[in-house]
Amino acid sequence: MKFEDMINTITLGDSYELIKDIPDKSIDLIYTDIPYLITHGGKGSSPLARKIDKVHNVYLKDITNGINYKILEEFVRITKKLNCFIWCSKEQIFEILKFFKEKGYLYEILTWNKTNPTPATNNVWLPDIEYCLYFRESGIKLNEGYELKSKWYESPINKKDKDKYKHPTIKPLELVKRHILHTTKKDDLILDCFSRKWNNLCGS
Ligand SMILES: C[S@@+](CC[C@H](N)C(=O)[O-])C[C@H]1O[C@@H](n2cnc3c(N)ncnc32)[C@H](O)[C@@H]1O
Repeated sequence: MKFEDMINTITLGDSYELIKDIPDKSIDLIYTDIPYLITHGGKGSSPLARKIDKVHNVYLKDITNGINYKILEEFVRITKKLNCFIWCSKEQIFEILKFFKEKGYLYEILTWNKTNPTPATNNVWLPDIEYCLYFRESGIKLNEGYELKSKWYESPINKKDKDKYKHPTIKPLELVKRHILHTTKKDDLILDCFSRKWNNLCGS
């Protein structure tokens, strides 16, 4: 597919394939919520994993079947200078951090702290934090603004949107806005390569 045809639109397809059509050094920021890796069943599985097992929801399974980390090499290739936010599950933090740290990029671990998490029992902690990893190459300029610079954000889960879009960890729009305003300039090109798979777009 021609790169020009992907700009300012939603392109339906397999991101692992489509990303190959994006030229080197053509994207200013990657902002994405990657498929989580959630282990199912057995002792120690998270409340979310248990819920997914229970409801057998195809979409939920799709967003929790993990990621092929080879795509991170593509993130490095397609960005003008690495500038990248990756929302991920706790289980994925180590591998992603290792990948980018070994390449010498600057990083931050950002959090969204939820004030109304689902109550937890069964010897587990409350599921009240979502993690977003941020990586940048030296030379990426951060914009000024006190609120933009905070590494954590606190808000309740937006239950209405969560139900509407059937996404278990739908992110607060205000937080996404702050992240983007902190790390981009006007007319920058931003890529989200894990927005929602083509077969899940209809009806959402
Ligand atoms: C954690 S979710 C992010 C959801 C999204 N931010 C939203 O608001 O719905 C990860 C998404 O990646 C999509 N996905 C998984 N594998 C994909 C692939 N190979 N190509 C394109 N999308 C994919 C899943 O369908 C899922 O919607």
